[in-house]
Amino acid sequence: MHPLHHLADRLRERLIQSAALGEGGDLHARIRELVEHEAALLDAPARERLVELVVERSFGLGPLEPLLRDPAVDEVMVNGPGAVWVERRGRIEPTDVRFEDPAALRHAIERILAPLGRRVDEAQPLVDARLPDGSRVNVIIAPLALDGPVLTIRRFRRRGFTPDELVELGTWTAPLRDVMRRAVQARLNILVSGGTGSGKTTTLNALSSFIGADERVVTIEDAAELRLQQPHVVRLEARPAGVEGRGEVSIRRLVRNALRMRPDRIVVGECRGPEALDMLAAMGSGHDGSLSTVHAGSAEEALRRIETLALMADVGLPHAAIREQLAAAIDLVVHQARLRDGTRRVIALSEVVRVASGPATRELYALRDGRPVWRAALTDELAQRLGRVA
Ligand SMILES: Nc1ncnc2c1ncn2[C@@H]1O[C@H](COP(=O)(O)OP(=O)(O)OP(=O)(O)O)[C@@H](O)[C@H]1O
Ligand SMILES: [Mg+2]
Repeated sequence: MHPLHHLADRLRERLIQSAALGEGGDLHARIRELVEHEAALLDAPARERLVELVVERSFGLGPLEPLLRDPAVDEVMVNGPGAVWVERRGRIEPTDVRFEDPAALRHAIERILAPLGRRVDEAQPLVDARLPDGSRVNVIIAPLALDGPVLTIRRFRRRGFTPDELVELGTWTAPLRDVMRRAVQARLNILVSGGTGSGKTTTLNALSSFIGADERVVTIEDAAELRLQQPHVVRLEARPAGVEGRGEVSIRRLVRNALRMRPDRIVVGECRGPEALDMLAAMGSGHDGSLSTVHAGSAEEALRRIETLALMADVGLPHAAIREQLAAAIDLVVHQARLRDGTRRVIALSEVVRVASGPATRELYALRDGRPVWRAALTDELAQRLGRVA
């Protein structure tokens, strides 16, 4: 390591020990003072440089700060001190932002996690956390990350997209919006599926805006991202195990607890574990109109995935019973994708039907060569349920 960097690390340690880091405002002056005092032998440019290095190591997000202030940036991806990428308007681009060295990146990560009461080290090399502004942070370090610390920040949008904005963006089409509005109002259980970052949570959030203001909604998430606009919403967030590995509260526990909270609807941010079983049970037992997302490559695969996840709950239910529950619980699957040009689109809307072999999807609407096509009429049952709302 460059001797100046080494010195900067030591000075930062000194600052921490003198508890000056918590004091905010005068920290700049304090750092300058410290540098003048401890590095009087260095020439003026070197001292300036040292001040910069200590500041970078002591303040907020360091060189990431300008990226996170840019409202066009949705995601910041740091693969190493010299490899910082962002996503802007659906496209991933490199930036010229650099950290001085791996230590500076590591310090920035520590500064992000420390105020959240989290830390990353060899025993806990993988951390998922949420910043006070709602942005989602993931950190993974050695030995799991092979080339140094990796930091990923999903910026929080102060406001999700409304259904009309999604139509404007081309993610939904107007006819699709109208069917989905009626589907939510008719209390169909809807699953949004898609790949990583395909916009599932965003679509779920927009769907939730169709829920009536008089309904009691309980939302359950790993890291709270949803922003429901209704007045009567209870938000629950799962808790990871603490530093000593205790105190975990799973999504599954929260789903079961939610059932005792007299919800009209339950919204599970993402189904990715055995909570799938409890969610199916909730959907099939008077909490119609529940919504969730699942990671899958197609609507059909989404059903298979929920089935597999529900089986993981391992409560001794026969497989056939779980498939039966699945067919009864989920009414619609909205499948979304991020296309090659960076846009995110709903590429299929499917109804869940029962066939001899169990639950299956029946495509109602799809994008074919970029054009929306209605492929099948609603089944009578669904048409009847939708018909009851205007
Ligand atoms: N329709 C859209 N048009 C443009 N940008 C979008 C759209 N939907 C989502 N985004 C942006 O894409 C990013 C990912 O969106 P979102 O979190 O909804 O995806 P996801 O599929 O839920 O991701 P994950 O797999 O991480 O749960 C966010 O930064 C969001 O602001
Ligand atoms: Mg999501």
